[in-house]
Amino acid sequence: MRTRLHPKAGFGFRRAGTARAGLLAVALVLGCARSSPAADDFPEWAYPVVPTPKPPDTVVQRQLPGSARRYTQAQIDDRFNPPDWYPASHPPLPRVVASGRRPDVFACTLCHLTNGSGHPESAGVAGLPVNYILRQLAEMKRGTRKGARAATMASTAAAMTDAEMREAAAYFSALPAIASATVVEAAVVPKSQVGKGAMRFALPGGGSEPIGDRIIEIPVEAEVAESRGPQTHFTAYVPPGSLARGEALVRRGGGGKTVACATCHGPALEGRGEAPSILGQSPLYVFRQLNDIKRGTRRGAMAALMQPIVARLDAGDMLAISAYLAAREP
Ligand code: HEC
Ligand code: HEC
Repeated sequence: MRTRLHPKAGFGFRRAGTARAGLLAVALVLGCARSSPAADDFPEWAYPVVPTPKPPDTVVQRQLPGSARRYTQAQIDDRFNPPDWYPASHPPLPRVVASGRRPDVFACTLCHLTNGSGHPESAGVAGLPVNYILRQLAEMKRGTRKGARAATMASTAAAMTDAEMREAAAYFSALPAIASATVVEAAVVPKSQVGKGAMRFALPGGGSEPIGDRIIEIPVEAEVAESRGPQTHFTAYVPPGSLARGEALVRRGGGGKTVACATCHGPALEGRGEAPSILGQSPLYVFRQLNDIKRGTRRGAMAALMQPIVARLDAGDMLAISAYLAAREP
C-alpha cells in the first residue's frame, strides 16, 4: 500500500512535493518505505472490532415472518442457546451446533446461523467439505489459523472434542451453500458504522459517503440480522471496476500476478480435492482470508498451497477478487 499524505492537509503543489520528499528521506533514514505497516496490512474495514456492547434487552419479544417463535434480544444473544427460528427448515441440530458446551464451546449457530450462511464478520460454512471443516477447526485449535477475527472461534475450537468436531462438520457440510450478499459497484455508499456483534449497519440518520478503497457490507434488513435470522441477506458495495478486475485475476491470473483459481478450485470454482468452493461467500470474509494467508496469520498444511497465489497481490487485487467471487452463485 502507498504512503499517503492527509488529503485535506491544504498544501499547495510545491509544498506537498516538499513534504513528500521529506517523508521519503525520513523513511529512507529509518530503513522502511511505509508509514504504518500494521494499519495498512490489516485494514480496519475488513477486520471490524466490536464496540463496547450494551446489555441486551430482556423484555421485547422479537418476531420474524413465518416463525411462530419469539425471543428477546438477550435470548438471541445467548451463547449456549441461540434462536432456532425455523426448526422445520433444517436437519436436526447436533447438540454442539445448537447449544455448544459450557464453558468454552459456544453454539455454532450463534454466529454461523442454523443454515450455515453466517455474517460478513464471521463466515459462511454451509456446504463446505467435511475434511476441509475438520482441518480448519484443527488449525484454529493448534494456532496455525489465528486471524484477527478468529479469536472466539479459536477458543471454541480449542475446547471441542473430536466427536463434536465431526458432528458439527457433518451438519454444516450437508447444508446447501447460498450466496450471502448481492454485490453492487458504487462510488458512493450509505454512511455506516460497525455495531452489535461487529456487524456494519447503515446509519439510522441516512447520508452517504465515498466508498474509497473498501468493501462496505451491510444487511438488507438490520432487524433480521440482529435477530440472527437465517434469511439475512447483505448488500456488499465494492468500488467501480472491481468485478472486471477480479474476473481477470480469477480467470486468467491477471497477466502473471497469480494463477487461475480453477487450476485447484475446480473448473467452475465449485471446489475440488482439498480446495473448497470459493463462490458466493461474503466478500469481506474472502478478503480477510486472502490477506491473512498473505500476512501469515493463516498458515497450515494446505494454506501453504495458497501462499504463492497471494504473494504478489495487493489490497486492491484481493478486494477485486473477493468482489468477483462473491457475485457468483455457489
Ligand atoms: C462467536 C462467533 C462464532 C462461533 C460461536 C463459532 N464461530 Fe466459526 N467462525 C467465526 C468467525 C468470526 C470465523 C471467521 C474467522 C476469520 O475471519 O478468520 C469463523 C470461521 C469458521 C470456519 C472456517 C470457515 C472457512 O470457510 O474456512 C469454520 C469451519 C467454523 N467457523 C466452524 C464453527 C463451528 C463448527 C462452530 C461451533 C462449534 C463455530 N464455528 C462457532 C465465528 C464463530
Ligand atoms: C495450487 C492450488 C491452488 C490455487 C491455484 C488456488 N488455490 Fe485457493 N486454496 C487452495 C487450497 C488447498 C485451499 C485450502 C486451504 C486450507 O485448507 O487452509 C485454498 C483455500 C482458499 C480460500 C479460503 C477458503 C475459505 O473458505 O476460507 C480462498 C478464499 C481461496 N483459496 C481463493 C483462491 C483464489 C482467489 C485463487 C486464484 C487467484 C486460488 N485460491 C487459487 C489451493 C489453491
